[in-house]
Amino acid sequence: MNKPVKERREKTVGYVQFKPEFGDVNKNLDTAEELIRSAPDADLLVLPELATTGYEFMDRDEVEKYAEPFNSGPTAKRIAKLARELKTTIIIGFPEKDARHNRIFNTAVLITPDGMAHAYRKIHLFDREKELFDKAHNQPPVIVTPAGRIGLMICFDWLFPETARLLALSGAEIIAHPSNLILRYCQKAMFSRSVENGVFSITANRIGREDRVGRSLTFTGLSQIMSPRGDILVAAPEDQDHVGLATIDLNLADEKMITPHNHRLNDRRVDLYRPLIST
Ligand code: ACM
Repeated sequence: MNKPVKERREKTVGYVQFKPEFGDVNKNLDTAEELIRSAPDADLLVLPELATTGYEFMDRDEVEKYAEPFNSGPTAKRIAKLARELKTTIIIGFPEKDARHNRIFNTAVLITPDGMAHAYRKIHLFDREKELFDKAHNQPPVIVTPAGRIGLMICFDWLFPETARLLALSGAEIIAHPSNLILRYCQKAMFSRSVENGVFSITANRIGREDRVGRSLTFTGLSQIMSPRGDILVAAPEDQDHVGLATIDLNLADEKMITPHNHRLNDRRVDLYRPLIST
């Protein structure tokens, strides 16, 4: 008997790569909106980390000036309006103020087409971020959306394969990865994160240079969408605005067998992994 053919679950997903101007939130949101509107049929769009502000804050007081509530500030409201109008799930990074606990986080917010906002606060802070943001204690979340089950991680989280693995174990089909990448390893490393977990990954990086604090940082662009089989479906240049789209079948991410005898998640030897969770 023939195997029943699974109905395809096609979604159009993409990244939005651009250069935020430091501190000009309105201008950056205008740029983001224009690029988002250039892909009106997308089911999912991922924007970079700290996309509204830029990256090189002088100090924590400066971050505080720009930090917003994840679901009720001007950025969340504007992105929610767009998500509703275009029926697109949109993910964007910005500094978050948790006023109740007087904390500031480097956060990615996912907003569904019904306007609901979900936050993920970066858990692996990179370099000076440790002086600028609070350490977050949230689990990387997987959110069920009309574009599929989406797991969130931010930039430097890529270096810790546990992050992507946690997302896969929680059922992610797509890992959305807002980034401000400086090192040159990540885009290649996402091959492994996608293949070892059997998930799509969307790395949305920024471009441009910042030299505000006595050093010069160049962001590496090269945003990309990677399939669970390790194919790059679309990639951006290293120095230009770019909206990259791919139509994917989510079923590919639900197929975890890598040979007829090997399941990517169930074949883990957790009985031998205790040292991984000791400090
Ligand atoms: C980074 O985590 N922004 C490199």
